Amino acid sequence: MNPVKWSAFVEADGRVHIVEMLDGVRKIKGLGVIDAKELFSGIDIGEEVLVGQKVLTRVPLRLPEMGKGMLRRAQTISAKDAGFITSRMGIGPSDSVLEAGIGSGGLSMYIARILGSSGIHVTVEPRSEHADVALENLRRCEESWTEFPSHHHIEGTIEEVANEISAISPSYDAIILDLPEHPSAIHAVASMLNIGGRMVCYCPVTSQLENAWIACEEEGLEIEWAGELIQRQWGKASKGGVRPVNGPFGHTAFLLLAYRRE
Ligand SMILES: C[S@@+](CC[C@H](N)C(=O)[O-])C[C@H]1O[C@@H](n2cnc3c(N)ncnc32)[C@H](O)[C@@H]1O
Repeated sequence: MNPVKWSAFVEADGRVHIVEMLDGVRKIKGLGVIDAKELFSGIDIGEEVLVGQKVLTRVPLRLPEMGKGMLRRAQTISAKDAGFITSRMGIGPSDSVLEAGIGSGGLSMYIARILGSSGIHVTVEPRSEHADVALENLRRCEESWTEFPSHHHIEGTIEEVANEISAISPSYDAIILDLPEHPSAIHAVASMLNIGGRMVCYCPVTSQLENAWIACEEEGLEIEWAGELIQRQWGKASKGGVRPVNGPFGHTAFLLLAYRRE
């Protein structure tokens, strides 16, 4: 059996720490200066360990832990929208998926998880300081999961690197655009969408949704769904019963799902 390279520890409040099991003493954000390998190697899944004042429980490093403990820079797509995007696009093993921009790699981790080892995942990002964070998050996934897609990262804007994208795969089953200017990106890559394939545009404001809608139709795509997803969490009330929790009921983005029929 290969030695475990990464492990996950959860605090009582749900905060997750993802730790690389390297030799030697070093500073780990949120945990202080420790020798991770010496301290954690003997701790089994489900067991507790005390680090400073914190009681941590070792847990399997599954997708939700990867998301909670991920490195962050650009705003990420969360489970609420990622679940809808990946299921409505029908992404699965052996598919080819194009994603721009990679940002922090939040959505990329969901895509990698469901593509498994037979899929192709191409990511594009012009800002190297964002890509560095995303690629580190994906490295954790690749080194922790039994399956991981053939992943290719391209530096640049999606408009500039269309040739490099098509050199990796001439066509794609799914294209996801989470970037500020959708129309030029849509015009650059829509011709690479397979018949039966779908494109999603993630649009924080309505003008982006409208512009993306028009550009998709100009490219001969049909709009299959447009809208936003509302999520309301429930919890236990202090005097008994369960009810919606007091907390954010926030807007994340408008989603546009477009389909290539012919
Ligand atoms: C909100 S972030 C993406 C977040 C990502 N979906 C996640 O879940 O972590 C948007 C990213 O698009 C990138 N971007 C902006 N214009 C772009 C373009 N023309 N082509 C590719 N990426 C672009 C930005 O640099 C930024 O990192």
